[in-house]
Amino acid sequence: MSFTYIDLFAGIGGFHQAASALGGKCVFASEIDAEAARAYAANYNMTPYGDITQIEAPEIPDHDVLLAGFPCQPFSIIGKKLGFDDIRGTLFFEIVRILKEKKPKLFILENVKQLKTHNNGNTLKTILKKLESLDYKVYNEVLNALDFGLPQKRERIIIAGFLNKNVNFSFPNPRLRGSLENVLEKDRVVDKKYFASERIAQKRKARHKSEYFPAIWHENKGGNISSYPYSCALRAGASYNYLLVNGERRLTPREMLRLQGFPDSFKIVCNDTQTRKQAGNAVPVNVIKAVLCEALNAQLPETGQEKPS
Ligand SMILES: C[S@@+](CC[C@H](N)C(=O)[O-])C[C@H]1O[C@@H](n2cnc3c(N)ncnc32)[C@H](O)[C@@H]1O
Repeated sequence: MSFTYIDLFAGIGGFHQAASALGGKCVFASEIDAEAARAYAANYNMTPYGDITQIEAPEIPDHDVLLAGFPCQPFSIIGKKLGFDDIRGTLFFEIVRILKEKKPKLFILENVKQLKTHNNGNTLKTILKKLESLDYKVYNEVLNALDFGLPQKRERIIIAGFLNKNVNFSFPNPRLRGSLENVLEKDRVVDKKYFASERIAQKRKARHKSEYFPAIWHENKGGNISSYPYSCALRAGASYNYLLVNGERRLTPREMLRLQGFPDSFKIVCNDTQTRKQAGNAVPVNVIKAVLCEALNAQLPETGQEKPS
């Protein structure tokens, strides 16, 4: 199916991966971080525009679908504002002003699950009310990457909006289990630099026995260790040994990208620190692909057009 889309707060293009796999053509992207933008350009043959606050909405090309994983910052600001209707000065406001001007048929937004409960639910209520005031029919759901064939527990709120008020949409939930074996490299090909020191590995193993192999061991802030046949959510700013494969080594950048559903054809052009941050910030490709596919199908008339799969 052919459609055009824009990719806001584009990062390394989790949305781009999903939308282009479904036949979409990206007509505009924006990303303020120079390293993420460099990775985006190397992979998608287009250099994202920088700071989204600096572009007038009429300058953005027309598009069918707006995609945006907006940073968490705006909702903490929305929460602090007096009068919940004032969203000016937030990055969510940038999405609103573009929707208002361009009126795409569909939008899909992503954010952390905590948006649902932030400020007793009032922040999300404000966001939904604002989107509905632009004449969209809006749906939201918390989805877990684990249910979409990725071995990563990553729960995110997805908000989908349709200009067509007659649309009948429901979020997919395929409960597809993915295996860690498909993500992990064989230890013998992993560079030594990814292995924790003998001292750290021994300390971990003295404190924890895993029921699973392979497993990702997770140490929380309180020092408790747990392990599962899947990873806990990758985080952009996590400490170095927060996740360890079998209690012994860190994930490689390629493994992190696989945990987010990026294909091995994705070129890694930045250093490990940047790629780890980029992977931790990304949206799981499989989740967006499934939601977008469902949303595009929900929009189509009953007959006549080929459905994407
Ligand atoms: C949660 S991440 C989104 C990642 C993306 N969905 C992906 O799959 O990689 C938010 C991104 O917004 C970018 N960002 C923050 N402020 C911005 C601004 N004013 N203009 C453009 N991008 C911005 C950040 O650099 C970050 O990469």
